[in-house]
Amino acid sequence: MTDRYAVIGNPVAHSKSPWIHAEFARACGEDIEYRRIEAPLESFTAAVDLFRAAGGKGLNVTLPFKQQAFRYCATVSERARSAQAANTLVLQKEPYGDNTDGVGLVRDLTANLEIALENGSVLLMGAGGAAQGVVGALLGAGVARLVIANRTLAKAQALAARFPGASASGYDALAGEGFDLVINATSAGLSGYGPSLPSGILRRRMLAYDLVYGHDTQFLAAARAAGARACDGLGMLVEQAAESFFVWRGVRPDARPVLAKLRAT
Ligand code: ATR
Repeated sequence: MTDRYAVIGNPVAHSKSPWIHAEFARACGEDIEYRRIEAPLESFTAAVDLFRAAGGKGLNVTLPFKQQAFRYCATVSERARSAQAANTLVLQKEPYGDNTDGVGLVRDLTANLEIALENGSVLLMGAGGAAQGVVGALLGAGVARLVIANRTLAKAQALAARFPGASASGYDALAGEGFDLVINATSAGLSGYGPSLPSGILRRRMLAYDLVYGHDTQFLAAARAAGARACDGLGMLVEQAAESFFVWRGVRPDARPVLAKLRAT
């Protein structure tokens, strides 16, 4: 029987994951089925149980269920523990949770965008679930300085306290600072106006990266206007999917041609 996988979320109708995994399966010669499951907000566990009972082998988990997915698992990887969230479930006898978001971001930055993270200085905007998912991987990639800035300073401080090597700041206090890379991990891009950075932070010869993809956020527009290189999170999406595919199948697909195809559509 063909092994069955799915992405579970709410909403999930526009998820590109089924298309991405179909491309990977074709390229790697793996026989899998991959679909979407929209779980009602209050019944994530029941929906996973149902998929498991029907023989489902693995799930990608997207908003708003990544924290619930982490709690669902009997065992979790170190990177899921670091994120306190799981985006990849292996539905064996004892469900196992992993998180490929951080490594997906780092791979997009280093392999696709050819940024040297080692010894670099990084500003991470936001201290919610999306930010928490990438801090461990950024530090693991050897950045020399990681500042987490957030509107609610206490949340940035709480997140930074969990990671030796990270520090916390408010936005205004960043005046006069310089970073090689600024990452927007706030949810503000979706609604329009987000945090405003002191002038001079977004500048030439730096990369501004938004975890959001699919539309030009105010952050990316501001970065471009300041002469910075600006990139959305589509590459991270494809790279996290490639890592999930590897976790499930033991085969690592090449993300680059799939990303190029997605960008061309
Ligand atoms: P996600 O899982 O997408 O990270 P979240 O956990 O609700 O969502 O976190 C949202 C993040 O975006 C938070 O860091 C939030 O800042 P606060 O902690 O101060 O609320 C940030 N955010 C959302 N809207 C924002 C805005 N308009 N300006 C600045 N920060 C914003």
